[in-house]
Amino acid sequence: PVLVVDFGAQYAQLIARRVREARIYSEVIPHTATVEEIRGKDPVALILSGGPASVYADDAPALDPAVLDLGVPVFGICYGFQSMAGALGGEVAHTGSREYGRTDVTVSGGLLHAGLPEHHPVWMSHGDAVTTAPEGFTVTATSPGAPVAAFECAERRMAGVQYHPEVMHSPHGQQVLTRFLTEIAGLEPTWTASNIADQLVEAVREQIGDGRAICGLSGGVDSAVAAALVQKAIGDRLTCVFVDHGLLRAGEREQVENDFVAATGARLITLDDSETYLGHLAGVTDPESKRKIIGREFIRSFERAVTQALELQGDDAASVDFLVQGTLYPDVVESGGGAGTANIKSHHNVGGLPDDIEFSLVEPLRLLFKDEVRAVGRELGLPEAIVGRHPFPGPGLAIRIVGAVDRDRLETLRAADAIVREEMTAAGLDASVWQCPVVLLADVRSVGVQGDGRTYGHPIVLRPVSSEDAMTADWTRVPYETLALISGRITNEVPDVNRVVLDVTSKPPGTIEWE
Ligand code: XMP
Repeated sequence: PVLVVDFGAQYAQLIARRVREARIYSEVIPHTATVEEIRGKDPVALILSGGPASVYADDAPALDPAVLDLGVPVFGICYGFQSMAGALGGEVAHTGSREYGRTDVTVSGGLLHAGLPEHHPVWMSHGDAVTTAPEGFTVTATSPGAPVAAFECAERRMAGVQYHPEVMHSPHGQQVLTRFLTEIAGLEPTWTASNIADQLVEAVREQIGDGRAICGLSGGVDSAVAAALVQKAIGDRLTCVFVDHGLLRAGEREQVENDFVAATGARLITLDDSETYLGHLAGVTDPESKRKIIGREFIRSFERAVTQALELQGDDAASVDFLVQGTLYPDVVESGGGAGTANIKSHHNVGGLPDDIEFSLVEPLRLLFKDEVRAVGRELGLPEAIVGRHPFPGPGLAIRIVGAVDRDRLETLRAADAIVREEMTAAGLDASVWQCPVVLLADVRSVGVQGDGRTYGHPIVLRPVSSEDAMTADWTRVPYETLALISGRITNEVPDVNRVVLDVTSKPPGTIEWE
């Protein structure tokens, strides 16, 4: 892999993603990794990431200069650029002129910036600056606050930039990163969806051997793609389980039971437990209580599903040995785990898994980013409705009804939600909207006039958000025409709803979901 050495900034994951966008496989490794550990990963190139610290600070993470003697191509970014400059004999100084935000660089010659405009904008964030490039390195860019904003040495296959090529505020950044990888490091772009899928299927086959596996489907893209990969690897020794808790959106169960099964040929058990969930949720209005009830019941459903899966596997199957989970790379990196440190995350899709069932985990997606998961899903022939699905919370519509949950209210919300999804898709907004929760204010009524008479109905809230990772979000500026269409259809077609309102709160302070 291309190893991104994480010096503690927020950017390492993003850099890895950008490298993969250049179709070259990349992983993040903490800066505390030793030279032996780095060598052990057999890197084809190293990227030293930015970091929050000044290279002069006492607690500044240090770069072991031996890393630069591995004979591997190296690219330094921001802090990584300065550390690299220092270690190679260049000079770094406290220039006192901080640059933060958009800056223009002036480029001249070299491989990194070939074909780019002489002056172009980049994103900077630094106090210190490289003042003298190491011997043998050519300075190929400068900016008002950075006399050496980029350098490179083709013979040693090393280069670096003071700015952040990985952020979208550096419009030519992806090109610069790609040019380092292909022109300076000499790497071939081979990380494609079809190669990824083949490799993952092979790895799953090896891990599971003759064993049996079970996979809980949520209706979402991650579990569907994970299951499809495992199905391809071990066929009918996989049993998929789908719990219908009665809190799903319109058409979701059918999507799993019909479309997923048709696309993969997977064996599926559906547990219709909606009665149970609705029973336990009756009269409950507190959001945390709703979540707890659903989480607890989900564990019970899942245990029953395991028993059924065992029966289905035939007499000779004493146990199911493997549990398939759709864990993604960002979760792996955030929980500090490297490859192979599997443990069940507490933030599971619904509410955690049984403690007393012993499984080995199969996590075929643990090295992938979301967009790669989607690409692999398409490669495996999963329908677009599953592959392109927006995030949906495990507790489902229960946490989108403000007030107690019952069948009628679910029906109302489902009808409104289906209209919103239809119109957003028709307006071509699916790719630009992260997700759009639709919320029913079941305990609020307002006066309206519909047809000939006065009504006293409920409001529906639209919560369209734009986000990169759901940690922060902004409300999406959905075109007025689309909002008008949605509002008109909901108030006309959904009984009991006489008002549609738009949530214009960012996160923070508002969370994405209302409960
Ligand atoms: P909040 O509301 O915390 O949501 O801003 C952030 C993201 O997480 C989703 N979400 C959940 N997903 N189980 C899940 O699998 C849950 O209990 C849960 N609660 C929120 C939410 O839809 C958004 O994408």
